[in-house]
Amino acid sequence: MSALVLFTCSLLAMAPTPRFPMGTARMDVGPAPHGLPDWRVQRCAECHAIQVDAWRHSGHATARTDDVFQVALTEDRPGWCVQCHAPLARNLERGPLPKDSPPEEHGVTCAGCHAPTGAEGQAPGMPCAGCHQFGFPVVTSAGQRVRLSQTQPQQDTVGEWRRWQTQSGDTRHCTSCHMPRGNHGFGGTRRTESLKAALRVEQTGASLRVSTREVGHAFPSGDVMRWVSVDVSEDPLFETSRTVATFGRRLEVREWPHEPLPHLGAVEDTRLLPGETRHVPLPAGARYARVIYHLVSREQEDSGLYPPGLSRLVLWASPLQPASPSHPVKERTP
Ligand code: HEC
Ligand code: HEC
Ligand code: HEC
Ligand code: HEC
Ligand code: HEC
Repeated sequence: MSALVLFTCSLLAMAPTPRFPMGTARMDVGPAPHGLPDWRVQRCAECHAIQVDAWRHSGHATARTDDVFQVALTEDRPGWCVQCHAPLARNLERGPLPKDSPPEEHGVTCAGCHAPTGAEGQAPGMPCAGCHQFGFPVVTSAGQRVRLSQTQPQQDTVGEWRRWQTQSGDTRHCTSCHMPRGNHGFGGTRRTESLKAALRVEQTGASLRVSTREVGHAFPSGDVMRWVSVDVSEDPLFETSRTVATFGRRLEVREWPHEPLPHLGAVEDTRLLPGETRHVPLPAGARYARVIYHLVSREQEDSGLYPPGLSRLVLWASPLQPASPSHPVKERTP
């Protein structure tokens, strides 16, 4: 066991902090600020109306009631998921909340970011890191979750951002892009317009060049169910279409170096890295192309778990230029 403990210590960046154990137990928020008796949002609203109003429109405020999250909560005991999506919640069940449940039940409240994390006496941790960086659960053969993986991140946004900073020399923090002027709205939920703006797509001859702009981590980042596809079709309505490229992670349960128990991890990662340009070859006959951001995995889409009309955000769509005069495009007869 001692080798494991040493290894764990060298990867503290992914280890839970005592105050925020990444959903594996309830968050210990510690004393409320300004000598207030507790951390309830209602209290903060008296003096910080601007932050509270903006926060109400953020995905943080509804991270637990969010419908994609609720659909994804297929676990019998969703406590782990809920204790990160709504760290102060008392009700850990899935399904709709009783009417008049306080904001603490609905999502990440002020304490989720402003309660000091880390060991007593140490500098406070980076508030985004506890939730936007964590390992896959390690589960025993009996189905019990024993801890989070130290080597296989389920979400790696902070790690991706650190690598981007090192590589690009850009010093912008998460908050520089996501909280301009301290705005607690974080761009709101379902940011289709900002996702569109973050993607650059161009046809050059018989391929599409796909890259991102002003993104400080992989695209898509965050949740494992997210992926992006490039689809082509001969008809503008995409009644029959083909997926010619995907940007996402392929997961498998297997053994990993330095990990005593097999668990989930990414065996392939084809997401777009910041600064990278991907060339997607277009098949002959393709007349229209689309880039789609998928909120749930392909298996979940195929199983009808979430209606495709809601789980697919079209980020880019365009008719294609014929690749070259030597490959004339066949006209469709109506
Ligand atoms: C009675 C009014 C009042 C209430 C209630 C109140 N605050 Fe404040 N808060 C202030 C004032 C005034 C400042 C600026 C002066 C200062 O820094 O202490 C401030 C500053 C802050 C700051 C920025 C400075 C820092 O300490 O980092 C944060 C964060 C903050 N409050 C969070 C909260 C939260 C969270 C709540 C609810 C649990 C809350 N406040 C409730 C009056 C209040
Ligand atoms: C997702 C994390 C997060 C949540 C949730 C959050 N805050 Fe903040 N808050 C921050 C960060 C980060 C800053 C520093 C902003 C900066 O550097 O521009 C901040 C700054 C503040 C400040 C200082 C003034 C300012 O705007 O810079 C106050 C006051 C504050 N927050 C109050 C609140 C209250 C009240 C809530 C609950 C409604 C809340 N925050 C929820 C992350 C959060
Ligand atoms: C207590 C956990 C927690 C903390 C701390 C936290 N987040 Fe989040 N964050 C979440 C969850 C859960 C979601 C998913 C919300 C949704 O879309 O349903 C989320 C969503 C987001 C999104 C997507 C936009 C949106 O509103 O849905 C951004 C951007 C983001 N967080 C940035 C940050 C940054 C920057 C910080 C640190 C200052 C931070 N978060 C701190 C849990 C957290
Ligand atoms: C250089 C700007 C930039 C920086 C730095 C940055 N982001 Fe982002 N982030 C974006 C853009 C642009 C998007 C895509 C548009 C959107 O979702 O609003 C995005 C999307 C996201 C999403 C939604 C998931 C997705 O990929 O669609 C989350 C969550 C997120 N960022 C969290 C973070 C966290 C946490 C950090 C710091 C560790 C961070 N971001 C740093 C620009 C940035
Ligand atoms: C340690 C914190 C943490 C735990 C535990 C956690 N999540 Fe999340 N989850 C997040 C963060 C942070 C985001 C925001 C990143 C993003 O938008 O992609 C998120 C986003 C999501 C989303 C995307 C929401 C949307 O609106 O698109 C789903 C779905 C989700 N989580 C499901 C789950 C499920 C199911 C579990 C339990 C099996 C779980 N999460 C456990 C932190 C956590």
